[in-house]
Amino acid sequence: MQNVSSPLWINNPSGLSQKVVGHYPLLTQKEAMEALNAAVHSYDCGQGLWPTLSVDQRIRHIEKFAFQMKEKKKEIVTLLMWEIGKNLNDSEKEFDRTIDYINGTIDELKILDRVSSRFTIQQGVIAQIRRAPLGVVLCMGPFNYPLNETFTTLIPALIMGNTVILKPPKLGVLLYSPLLEAFHNSFPPGVINTLYGDGQQVCGPLMESGKIDVLAFIGSSRVADILKKQHPKPHRLRCILGLDAKNPAIILSHADLDLTVKECVLGTLSFNGQRCTAIKIIFVHSLIVDAFLNRFKEEVSKLKVGMPWDSDIRLTPLPESGKPEYLFELVEDAKKNGAEIINKNGGKFNKTLFNPALLYPVNSMMRIYHEEQFGPVIPIVPFDDINIPIRYVIESHYGQQVSLFGTDPDVIAKMIDPLVNQVCRVNLNSQCQRGPDTFPFTGRKDSAEGTLSISDALRVFSIRTLVAGKEIDLNREIINRIIKERKSNFLSTDFIF
Ligand code: G3H
Repeated sequence: MQNVSSPLWINNPSGLSQKVVGHYPLLTQKEAMEALNAAVHSYDCGQGLWPTLSVDQRIRHIEKFAFQMKEKKKEIVTLLMWEIGKNLNDSEKEFDRTIDYINGTIDELKILDRVSSRFTIQQGVIAQIRRAPLGVVLCMGPFNYPLNETFTTLIPALIMGNTVILKPPKLGVLLYSPLLEAFHNSFPPGVINTLYGDGQQVCGPLMESGKIDVLAFIGSSRVADILKKQHPKPHRLRCILGLDAKNPAIILSHADLDLTVKECVLGTLSFNGQRCTAIKIIFVHSLIVDAFLNRFKEEVSKLKVGMPWDSDIRLTPLPESGKPEYLFELVEDAKKNGAEIINKNGGKFNKTLFNPALLYPVNSMMRIYHEEQFGPVIPIVPFDDINIPIRYVIESHYGQQVSLFGTDPDVIAKMIDPLVNQVCRVNLNSQCQRGPDTFPFTGRKDSAEGTLSISDALRVFSIRTLVAGKEIDLNREIINRIIKERKSNFLSTDFIF
């Protein structure tokens, strides 16, 4: 078993101690293969109960699960706070957003299915075209959204008829325990299998077996590359990946500073900067850099630090082991290369609590200019020539999003055109973000593979499949009989309301 230590240190009579909040099984290759066999058996080459159920029936299973999941909100929110230090408000938002995502997925699938419930006749061929499942999906989410991001692949994978192995993230594991019963009650055996343990130990053998059909992974590109390479037939493996990012904010000389500062605080420091979509570097035009720095550091100094459940808390302890030390190294490296910490107490840390560090002026010699810090260190780069931030985006390994702050439509229009070919979302006078979940979420270069949104996800976990035949009396008769007597779940004109 693995003990789970909370990032929250508790003051007790003998001093500060890190609270152990539970433990989970450290499974081995043996149990990993048992989980895999259960998923393979349940899919049964597409002949199993789950992949052959009608869409309507699968929706009912998911609805049953969502109903039971809602009952567990309090437990899950509490575990989110204790396991990853996410504040109460954001933990509740993560839970509610996940329920909305499930409901949105159901609605979207109904729309998709209604469109597919008709026949097409083209060039003397009659056909019904639907989407069919792909097989066994390995779902792995990240520690910063252990529930929500995992479910943004888990739910569409399940609802499209795949069977799933769910490997919880390295942090944010215990919050899955309140859901196990709901999984068990809502799905046929083998449809969803939860695998605890060290990723290398349990996921390597799964990939090497060649029996994983889809890898849904949200985490680092380094781990994604390892997993993909382990599959013996890479051309058979479909991947949907959400990976690294270092989204810049570009603040133009005519930016509205009130709005810009507000969005930059949110973008850099929501959940302590631990979002893949966080603003991780800020380029500011030198004409307004002094005014920006003064207001920005003032707003950062107002953010309340504390325990996740206290009211209005914005900064909380960091859950990753060794993270404060890593951030400290980045700060020291930047200082050696000419940057200063411009905010009071910036970069000071105690145990898991790290006070945000605003670094200025940052340049390309520094590690923080290139590395994805995923935490509360904020590099700020002054510029006169707009090509400096544009070159940064072009030369970056990442290509997720950018935030553009300015008020002049001519200048903004000139920037939009080159930027949309480098990243996948240009945010105007707004922080970078994934939502709304109906919008496409993706990236270029090392930032992503495939696109997720509520509707896109249904497509990536399925494949278009059709039943087609020449328009002859024999085929008309066969199709009519199958439909009238409701002999098939696939070949059907049933309309889901
Ligand atoms: O960690 C990356 C998440 O996809 C970010 O989602 O922009 O809603 O925080 P968010």
